Amino acid sequence: MLIVGIGGTTNQSSSSDAALRLALDEVESQGAQALMVSGDLLKNLPMYDPVNPERTPEALELIAAMREASGIIISAASYHGSISGMLKNALDYAEDLALDERAYFSGMPVGSIAVAKGYQAAVNTLATLRIIVHSLRGWPTPYGCIVNTSSTEQGTGIAGAQEGLRLVASEVVHLARAFETHATIVASQS
Ligand SMILES: Cc1cc2nc3c(=O)[nH]c(=O)nc-3n(C[C@H](O)[C@H](O)[C@H](O)COP(=O)(O)O)c2cc1C
Repeated sequence: MLIVGIGGTTNQSSSSDAALRLALDEVESQGAQALMVSGDLLKNLPMYDPVNPERTPEALELIAAMREASGIIISAASYHGSISGMLKNALDYAEDLALDERAYFSGMPVGSIAVAKGYQAAVNTLATLRIIVHSLRGWPTPYGCIVNTSSTEQGTGIAGAQEGLRLVASEVVHLARAFETHATIVASQS
């Protein structure tokens, strides 16, 4: 079972990247395979063009990862109150899955992580991610994790969000297994 993480920024010490890595570590500790598509790849994606079918190697890598995934975790940095243009552009590549037998993110659990310097942007970004996941026919997990990187209070920031990040990962793995079991049962009955 493959869980694909998509997110991070171009920042060398990206918090949204670190949050996603932590979640994917939990995915692996629960016995699933994890693949991270980070800012290093996302920054090299051309602007998604539905009219031009040519795809760069980076775009093909992202599309293949989304196609092979049993579950997805998206980690977004808040830019001006919402997800960054770079991440939105990457998610627009899901349009290339529209005509697949499993269209877009159908039947897939998708966990969301939002990282910002303030709670307002983080919460708004989390809500935006879930709207995008719904649009892609994915199943947003019940728990979504927000990380406020500016707060200096004890128990905040990435360190304070560890439990929540693990919970996002855990729900994605759990639901992906449940969906696969369900599909196996349905296939055996037909
Ligand atoms: C262009 C830009 C816009 C941002 N806009 C907001 C914002 O509206 N609200 C907020 O709380 N933080 C905002 N931030 C702060 C980032 O969300 C925060 O630093 C986050 O940790 C960046 O993620 P990264 O560490 O993965 O690069 C912005 C940062 C950038 C670079």
